[in-house]
Amino acid sequence: MAKHTVTLIPGDGIGPELTAAMTRVVEATGVDIEWETVEAGADVVEKYGTPLPESVLDSVRKNKVAIKGPITTPVGGGFRSVNVAIRKELDLYACLRPAFSIPGSGARYDDIDIVIVRENTEDLYAGIEFEEGSESALELIKFAADRGAGIIRPDSGISLKPISITGTERIVRYAFDYAIANGRKKVTAVHKANILKMSDGLFLKVARQVAEEYKDSGIEFEDYIVDATCMQLVLHPEWWDVLVLPNLYGDIISDLSAGLIGGLGIAMGANIGTDCAVFEPVHGSAPKYAGKDMANPTAEILSAMLMLKHLGETDAADRVLNAVRTVIGKGEKVTYDVRRSVTGSTDGAVGTQAYADALIAAL
Ligand code: NAI
Repeated sequence: MAKHTVTLIPGDGIGPELTAAMTRVVEATGVDIEWETVEAGADVVEKYGTPLPESVLDSVRKNKVAIKGPITTPVGGGFRSVNVAIRKELDLYACLRPAFSIPGSGARYDDIDIVIVRENTEDLYAGIEFEEGSESALELIKFAADRGAGIIRPDSGISLKPISITGTERIVRYAFDYAIANGRKKVTAVHKANILKMSDGLFLKVARQVAEEYKDSGIEFEDYIVDATCMQLVLHPEWWDVLVLPNLYGDIISDLSAGLIGGLGIAMGANIGTDCAVFEPVHGSAPKYAGKDMANPTAEILSAMLMLKHLGETDAADRVLNAVRTVIGKGEKVTYDVRRSVTGSTDGAVGTQAYADALIAAL
């Protein structure tokens, strides 16, 4: 029997080709992993009547560890995001997104080492929405007016932003525990508490209380308003260490940080809960590159690097990261996005699988 059984969700768009490259690199490290492949997304709706069959969740619950490719979400109508649903169903409350510089990636900066800890289950992503003109929306509008909370235009659609003490306590604790375990120095809570007093205000209050519990840990704590954070991230990316954020700001700042380190092709991630962990890149399914053997699998492969660490396979994780640093550092066998950032042209770029071959040779 394999030492580790991991649920593999290839996803759609560029997902299958990226996960194929990823499994080849992981297997080449020699770790003993068996992949239990399951499908989710638009392609399975006809067969299962849902884009997220219960069997997918059962596989993750059983194996406790999964890695996935991106899954397309229809814009506007259609089903809700499968990616968000997986996080909610398995209560993967912490979204961990380390963003560090890889020299040779063509990024504007080369001294970045930021860790984003994004709350994954509540805030505007809770999916509690009221359609414009619906009876529920009109009731809610009347309720707000009757309570003197404020006037909402009758032709409004409404999305709720719940933030709880429970949700905030556990994500801020996660950020501090991560900081301690990984030798970091500072945790910054990011919010808009000056405007959103009931939701972000609570987030900040609870974050400060949790920080008190950790006051002897040696980890510094500060808080920052999200708009100022965006500007200072661009001006002084080297200032930041571990950032803990409610869901929506975490989403946006993750992409900003991805941009700082060279783009979405590189940005890795993990969704972690009490029982299970699901690893996935920050980027989506990039449909226009699907099936072209062009997309950069680094984000998927570095998500696997995080997974290997989680599985206790630190040696294999280090080898994967070193191989990425070596190949991107040399700049000879890199995908179109990195090539373009470095040289201004995609000439000389290699495909997804050829890049994975170069990584395997560099392990
Ligand atoms: P996206 O991240 O898929 O792509 C935006 C652009 O980033 C691409 O056009 C491409 O230029 C670049 N890019 C992304 N990944 C790349 C890679 N590996 N290598 C090279 N370039 C890459 O974002 P978009 O277009 O907003 O979303 C497409 C679909 O993906 C949507 O349906 C969205 O809902 C879904 N999505 C899924 C996520 C997930 O599975 N966790 C996360 C984000 C979006």
